[in-house]
Amino acid sequence: MSSTETPPAQNDAPAHIDTTKASIARVYDAFLGGKDNYEVDRQVFQQVLTIAPESPELARDFRTWLIRAVRFLAAGANIDQFLDLGSGLPTAENTHQAAQRINPEAEVVYVDNDPIVAAHGRALLEENEHTHFIAADLREPETVLNHPVVTRNLDFSRPIALMQCATIHHVDDDADPYGIMQTYINALAPGSYVGLTHFYDPEDGGKYTELAKGIEKTFRESSMGTGRFRTRAEIMSFFDGLELLEPGLVLLADWYPEGPRVQPLPDSGHIALGAVARKP
Ligand SMILES: C[S@@+](CC[C@H](N)C(=O)[O-])C[C@H]1O[C@@H](n2cnc3c(N)ncnc32)[C@H](O)[C@@H]1O
Repeated sequence: MSSTETPPAQNDAPAHIDTTKASIARVYDAFLGGKDNYEVDRQVFQQVLTIAPESPELARDFRTWLIRAVRFLAAGANIDQFLDLGSGLPTAENTHQAAQRINPEAEVVYVDNDPIVAAHGRALLEENEHTHFIAADLREPETVLNHPVVTRNLDFSRPIALMQCATIHHVDDDADPYGIMQTYINALAPGSYVGLTHFYDPEDGGKYTELAKGIEKTFRESSMGTGRFRTRAEIMSFFDGLELLEPGLVLLADWYPEGPRVQPLPDSGHIALGAVARKP
């Protein structure tokens, strides 16, 4: 996964990796310009590019939002334990690097169910004794919360940051995403935080809704088969029982940007929301 490695050829894939179907982690990797993706993933990427040429920026916006939020949580909110659901493939900067730059002893547990993340990502993500990875399905919160690596390294009697970034939009309504979130939230001590980003249908009756629906259709009809652009009200429901921090649930670029906006937002900047909330 180093930048010097060549992209894996279809037939070089480890046996347990299904290269006949696009995977969420590998398609995201393709959008981010990574090398851990296969032809089947790049096809999804290319299809989305035809309707949303600037969509790689959306993937970068998701990733940089995560890093900004982790930095705030470690520095501004003094959080020293992170449960990062859906780590994704390691990129230039990951949750543990952002948190441990501020507090070298911050504990981070990553969760992902993609075999390529487990196979290649684990070594890079678990680079010190405070950083851990478990292969588990985030749709099974009880399994995640009771996993020995989680219970050994995170103290649920103290505040934790739960990161649910660019993940729950891959959980369909019939899999009870709201119930899943509530189970995680119920397990958190008062003073804990939740960071969440999500594909967004602005319901503007115009081009942004059309774009959201077009990408959703492409994702769902592809071999990846997942991705829901929810409305503001639907996304807000994930924060039930929590207090949203300023500036609330906003476009990714509007959540504590690095500086003033010097370019207009691309269209893809209008179809994802993020917020950080605190458990009272
Ligand atoms: C789009 S990436 C987001 C990565 C990272 N959270 C970020 O914001 O940059 C989504 C990640 O969630 C993982 N994922 C999706 N559904 C999952 C599930 N049910 N259980 C565990 N991981 C899942 C995927 O494998 C992928 O690595």
